[in-house]
Amino acid sequence: QEDQFKKVLSHAKEYGYVFQSSEIYDGLSAVYDYAQNGVELKKNIRDYWWKAMVQMHENIVGIDAAILMHPTTWKASGHVDAFNDPLIDNKDSKKRYRADVLVEDFREKINQKIQKDITKAKKRFGDDFNEDEFRATNQNVVRRQKQIDEISAELTRVQEESDLEGFRNLILDLGIVCPVSGSKNWTEVKQFNLMFGTKIGASAENSTQVYLRPETAQGIFVNFLNVQKTGRMKIPFGIAQTGKAFRNEIVARQFIFRMREFEQMEMQFFVKPGTQKEWYENWKQTRLKWHLSLGMGQENYRFHDHDKLAHYADAAADIEFNFPFGFKELEGIHSRTDFDLKAHEEYSGKKLQYFDHTENKSYVPYVVETSIGLDRMFLAVFSNSLQEEALENGTTRTVLKLPAVLAPFKAAVLPLVKKDGLPEVAKQIMEDLKWDFNVFYDEKDAVGKRYRRQDAAGTPFCITVDHDSLEDNSVTIRHRDTMEQKRVKISDLKEIIKAEVDV
Ligand code: GAP
Repeated sequence: QEDQFKKVLSHAKEYGYVFQSSEIYDGLSAVYDYAQNGVELKKNIRDYWWKAMVQMHENIVGIDAAILMHPTTWKASGHVDAFNDPLIDNKDSKKRYRADVLVEDFREKINQKIQKDITKAKKRFGDDFNEDEFRATNQNVVRRQKQIDEISAELTRVQEESDLEGFRNLILDLGIVCPVSGSKNWTEVKQFNLMFGTKIGASAENSTQVYLRPETAQGIFVNFLNVQKTGRMKIPFGIAQTGKAFRNEIVARQFIFRMREFEQMEMQFFVKPGTQKEWYENWKQTRLKWHLSLGMGQENYRFHDHDKLAHYADAAADIEFNFPFGFKELEGIHSRTDFDLKAHEEYSGKKLQYFDHTENKSYVPYVVETSIGLDRMFLAVFSNSLQEEALENGTTRTVLKLPAVLAPFKAAVLPLVKKDGLPEVAKQIMEDLKWDFNVFYDEKDAVGKRYRRQDAAGTPFCITVDHDSLEDNSVTIRHRDTMEQKRVKISDLKEIIKAEVDV
């Protein structure tokens, strides 16, 4: 697993997907730049989400709110007072620990044990094996699952209640995974706010403290009534947004999984109070279907239902993905009640209510939220797609099997040789295709080598122009995943590619 993760990191750099930020200055921790291919993949993921959420739902509209918001926003949302993480330093190791990262490690270790039990049982029972039943009845698995649930619930509690002593005990309880287990040499627990602050205004005396938003959601809540009125929206309806969010993560690691500057894709769905459970279940399934539609393997997703809930939620679940370092949160679906809108009413003194004509009364709607990290989705797609394949001739090929709809370039056009008029035909094909797709041109090196390069870069199709093309107006189209080659008419190319990349 660790090897696979290293390969993901180096491949992302080598093929122009992700660079460390400010690399020439040795980088900035947990900040990354998207390179020439990465920016296309990221855009395609964003578009795929936007299409599914906004274009396909007539009752969901988009907005693009500013990163900077009135500072009272963050009082109302609870971020000023409660978006803290307790920290503790170990004097022996000189390392700093954050409870939720340690709990994540703990969950992962125990889950690996559960997975081992499952694999063993699968071998023993063969076709008769039923994983759900095994998880529910096997003593070992049930005990381990209980351990995970208890520790996760305790984490939520200490975070919610800012219980510093509880945090300390939790760290000590985690001794099994904590690399300094048994050590007594800890500092006091400190609270650390995760929001990045900055100042608006020219002089120190007249400046106002503002924050870089730690989630995009609040931009939607404060605009709720504006959108509802101007868009003449009727409940239930949703507001969607993609955009940057910032968190001063203390333990920042795992590449683009946990960043200080990242992008979220969120949708807040406003519903009639009392119907939220139904909508929550509905959105859980809808979002899972969205993930499955990319064909990255049903076995790589699972729900993690939260037992202990944040103060504003009455139900919450994560969609977890099987990353190279194990199953981790990719997306959250939260039933947030009327907490946010009510808080903004209170702090702003403005009503944020909806007049329901069918009920003939006003109310503050309830909210069901779906929230996914774009960078995390990028990592999920990229790591799942990167594969090494043993070929029949004994060699291996590295291939990035990105879902075609997300691939940065849909096709590469390759003249077999750099002469005899072949580049001209290839360039003409580029001209015709570029109105519909991103196409790449490459005439350097032997064609076999060029195929390998496109395989590794994730391009679903290679189109090769040879001498016969001059006679028969046909080319060879090669499919990245099957490596199958077919002779097709140049005039059919557009339709062939479209069939694969359009959804
Ligand atoms: N509005 C709800 C909200 O922000 P969250 O669980 O804190 O909920 C939602 O974040 C999603 O944003 C997560 O599931 C994850 O995909 C992504 N995310 C959160 N923190 C992140 C970070 N530091 N780096 C990258 N993605 C992050």
